[in-house]
Amino acid sequence: MNSQNLLNIAKKFGAPVYVYDAEKITSQFNRLTKAFKGVGSLRLNYATKALSNISILRLMNNLGSGLDTVSVQEVKLGLMAGFKPESIIYTPNGVSLEEIEEASALGVQINIDNLSILEQFGSKHPDVPVCIRINPHVMAGGNSNISVGHIDSKFGISIHQIPHLLRIVDLTQMNINGIHMHTGSDILDIDVFLYASEILFETAKNFKNLEFIDFGSGFKVPYKAGDIETNVEELGKKLTKRFNEFCNEYGRELTLAFEPGKFLVSEAGHFLAKVNVVKQTTSTVFASVDSGFNHLIRPMLYGSSHEISNISNPNGKERYYSVVGYICETDTFGSNRRINEISEGDILSFKNAGAYCFTMASNYNSRYRPAEVLWYKGKAHLIRERETFDDILRNQVDAKELFEPPKKVVAK
Ligand SMILES: Cc1ncc(COP(=O)(O)O)c(C=O)c1O
Repeated sequence: MNSQNLLNIAKKFGAPVYVYDAEKITSQFNRLTKAFKGVGSLRLNYATKALSNISILRLMNNLGSGLDTVSVQEVKLGLMAGFKPESIIYTPNGVSLEEIEEASALGVQINIDNLSILEQFGSKHPDVPVCIRINPHVMAGGNSNISVGHIDSKFGISIHQIPHLLRIVDLTQMNINGIHMHTGSDILDIDVFLYASEILFETAKNFKNLEFIDFGSGFKVPYKAGDIETNVEELGKKLTKRFNEFCNEYGRELTLAFEPGKFLVSEAGHFLAKVNVVKQTTSTVFASVDSGFNHLIRPMLYGSSHEISNISNPNGKERYYSVVGYICETDTFGSNRRINEISEGDILSFKNAGAYCFTMASNYNSRYRPAEVLWYKGKAHLIRERETFDDILRNQVDAKELFEPPKKVVAK
């Protein structure tokens, strides 16, 4: 998919619009599979939360992926997209026992990350196999908001609580069939993975009926040409070796699972927005687009830096711009970026817009959420309509009878 294809999509479907390249998703899936080809049984469970459009889920299912889900609604989407319940893992955090039971009744693999729910679920459903999410107390991740495996994190069962965990398992006679960790996102250093994996192997020795070990995700992807990224090939070599050794020690071949989100969809996504205004101030040239952090919140939320290019004028002279949105708060996509000369009406393309972009979009400022388009086998397919004013009103209850204008008082 090239810039001309993107421009044609903006013309045909309008902007703002998200565009996803199925070929890039496929090549990332194949790349990770190849990196772990030395493992007897590998399972990639796509992290639905990154991009949950049902057509993307169908593509993942087609590729042979499983699904990682964090809510019962994501489980239902996965089932609607054709995933078998047994290829879905449900890894919630801080949800009610009722929601976990609802997901369990749908037949998916349950992953529990706290002792309170483990004890309650195990007492009521000792026959349901359960995976446990371990917190290995490893500080990893590109930013504090996405570092989730450290000692102060709310995620997972602490490795220091293993004796308590074992007591619960023993007393309830529940069956632990998997162990899991996810220490953060944007982890560059593969030694962090390897170090945390050793903790997981040590923990695994406590459980006799394991079928899989899930190493979570957190692969860092490049945001521009030449950018740093996790070396998954190197990780593949090293972890495969250690995993196979561990399976030998354990006495059984286990499945090695990952649950990548960003790695599979980040680079496949392009967000296209039209320039409304070019505004020269005393210090800066702003390009204001017909969008804002209601559509692409990651730069404002945790400083992610999306490469921005002017696909309407790819050969224009480069100038410095601050690209901003229309939200009435600080709403900056990128400051002091060198971009081919921008005119009002041009279409800007934001890279790495596949993961955590549409799924984090909102109607803030009563704006519509954009359309989504899948580029598949050389053609553009609409996979979500742009919202309309009806969507803004949906579910609102207009309590107008409460606010009838006061009746005029007539003087006697
Ligand atoms: C439990 C779990 N698994 C997988 C992921 C996916 O992480 P990433 O998008 O970095 O691959 C996340 C992301 O927050 C997560 O919380």
